[in-house]
Amino acid sequence: MAGNAVGLGNFLRFPSQAANNGGGSFMVPYFIALVLLGIPLMWIEWGIGRNGGRYRKGHFPGMVSAIWKHPAAKYVAAVGLVIPLAVMIYYTYLEAWTAAFAWFSLTKDYWGQTTQEGMGQYLRSFQAIPKAGDPVFHQSYTPYLFYLGTLGINIWVLSKGISGGIEKLAKIGMPILFVFAVILAGVVLTLPAQPGVDASPLAGLEFIYKPDLSRIGEPGVWLAAAGQIFFTLSVGMGSLQAYASYLSTKDDIALNGIATASTNETAEVVLGGSIAIPAAVAFFGVAGAVQIAQSGSFNLGFATMPVVFQKIHETLPIGNFLGFMWFGLLFFAGITSSVSMLTPVTAFFREEFGVKRETIAWIMGGVCLVFGLGHVHWLQHGVLDEWDYWAGTFGLVVVAMIETIVFIWVMGPDKAWKNIHMGADIRIPQIFKFIMTYVTPLYLLILLTWWGISDALPILLNEKSAGSSAPVSAADTPYVNLARAVLLFFLVTFVVFIRAAWKRNGYDDRKGFVEIATDRAPAEAA
Ligand code: PHE
Repeated sequence: MAGNAVGLGNFLRFPSQAANNGGGSFMVPYFIALVLLGIPLMWIEWGIGRNGGRYRKGHFPGMVSAIWKHPAAKYVAAVGLVIPLAVMIYYTYLEAWTAAFAWFSLTKDYWGQTTQEGMGQYLRSFQAIPKAGDPVFHQSYTPYLFYLGTLGINIWVLSKGISGGIEKLAKIGMPILFVFAVILAGVVLTLPAQPGVDASPLAGLEFIYKPDLSRIGEPGVWLAAAGQIFFTLSVGMGSLQAYASYLSTKDDIALNGIATASTNETAEVVLGGSIAIPAAVAFFGVAGAVQIAQSGSFNLGFATMPVVFQKIHETLPIGNFLGFMWFGLLFFAGITSSVSMLTPVTAFFREEFGVKRETIAWIMGGVCLVFGLGHVHWLQHGVLDEWDYWAGTFGLVVVAMIETIVFIWVMGPDKAWKNIHMGADIRIPQIFKFIMTYVTPLYLLILLTWWGISDALPILLNEKSAGSSAPVSAADTPYVNLARAVLLFFLVTFVVFIRAAWKRNGYDDRKGFVEIATDRAPAEAA
């Protein structure tokens, strides 16, 4: 579960978001969203997932139908299959960049590009989105190659099962990433003052951690903070629920849910906050770091950090290894997350159609490859941003809304509270029952409305692009429309599959599913 939560969001997305939204002014709404949305949703997801497992349902439509006994339930919940699949497709592409840059660090491939501008060109060359006049650094097949390799490893791990593949990967990947992160934070925070820069790395910490209420009235900061909480904790996705479906009523989900959230927040706020921003501040000052973060979501991690490592190399000749550690840590954080994203679809085809896990893993790998190539090839047209907005941002809140209503309100707050406490050694403070019942749903409703008006509608009308606030250009419009059409196509396809599954298995929506005699056997997860 912690492997699932700790991901690129912690080390790449968090520093950029924090810097973009004023550092300390971002952290106030961030912690509020953590307590009122993130942690309650964590428990709700473990609860709805484990409950689904009692009926052998590891996919969102099944989990929702197990509680809300209405024919519409399974279709409403189809988004819980589409979203993780869509996010998997573009997330593995970003993960491939980290693998590539780990390699480029080790082999000193970008060595010599010691300015922000030079590294920016190098990054754009790799992304195949050069600006006029940019030199060419990479063969055109390089990004495809890394994408193919990264996706291949993901699918191979997935095909080995939850305990046989994913758990083994997490046991190796998680300690490595924590060790790398601690070393990097140590190096960055002890950097000496740089000539010509009037800020130390500690000024970077102060920028994030010193509470600042000056921007507290800006809705944009609140929305960004809530979006980050969703993404980083993996809530609203369908994958935590899928993992939880393999647990038994003897497991303590109250404690493990909060342990997962705590591990993720330590990795994010403590470690994620102590690397990229302080490093950028040490060499470019606070204003410089903010400017970099605003210039593009990946510039901090993929352009500035390599510049920093080369500068460190001048006095401490291990810069290339530090670079390898930085991108290696991102790779491990990424892969232990991405392997979770196909678990909902895998569970769906396995449980409802009896397809073997290996078979479905490789088929889904093929699906990811076909659609992923669209992202690799058309990155400059905004297709990735479009998916990241609809699936990776807005969609998460939609799923969260569905599960909160179903688990808390359809099941009933008292029953839900008891359900979460089955097998638990700890008691969640009573105040959270109130929060989950009233505050979380209300917060979600406000978010959806606000987002709907300020982003979703203008984005849908192409008045604003998903990646920046500029309108979608005429050249990009067909690509953006295609990106949406594909998402819609996924949704329709899953609705058809769900319908077929219910027919095939003769489910009666009003009666619900038959409870399996014992808790889901461990063999299911093997
Ligand atoms: N939480 C992951 C991150 O921080 C992203 C993720 C979302 C992973 C949803 C799995 C499911 O990068």
